[in-house]
Amino acid sequence: MSHNKDLHHIIPPWEELGLFDSGGDSCLWWGSRGAGTKLHQDSHGFNVVCQIYGKKEWTLAPPGSHGIKPTRCPYEPSTVWGRNINISDLEDALTIELVPGDMLIVPPGWWHSVISLTEAISVNIWSPCPPPSSHDSDATETEVATRILTKLCSEARLFPVPIVEEECELGSIEKLSQLIKRDKKISDESKVEKIEKDHRFFHALTHPSVIKEFLKAYKEL
Ligand SMILES: [Fe+2]
Repeated sequence: MSHNKDLHHIIPPWEELGLFDSGGDSCLWWGSRGAGTKLHQDSHGFNVVCQIYGKKEWTLAPPGSHGIKPTRCPYEPSTVWGRNINISDLEDALTIELVPGDMLIVPPGWWHSVISLTEAISVNIWSPCPPPSSHDSDATETEVATRILTKLCSEARLFPVPIVEEECELGSIEKLSQLIKRDKKISDESKVEKIEKDHRFFHALTHPSVIKEFLKAYKEL
């Protein structure tokens, strides 16, 4: 790298794009060739990326793309990770190469994975403007509820470090209660089976339909 002192002249002033950085909202991404981020969605707003140095390959897919299973890591509110799919296998995936001077806008909810084709530097900002939609508000409520549920379960030592598995059929209060009852009966089963059940239990607890019921009950308090 050379010309480091010129970097800040290359980065566009966000205000000219109608974007607002309250201080600390922008990120600098500096990676070697091969560095990257796996398939995920950003949880809030939209992402504006400026390529400053080197080349990066971005692969994007629209929200609702078939075959992507969303999963969350507890206490990581900013990202929804995608599992069980290679994004480039999707029919509606787009692959683009960013070179210095390029700017990419990632719309809310779009899946994306990124890899540096060379040593590369980019700068981005996540912007909540235009004002947060109801989708964003719902997402925020869901994240908060998920974190509360996870913390409660963690403190109660209901399961060890959980790994989310997508099992849509577990997404109801009734099925969750059945699973909890079953879970109490398995203390003498093998450790592997117990861990698998813990994962399913955690997933059931953080399933959108459970979170919805949790929020509904919480708002009625
Ligand atoms: Fe992202």
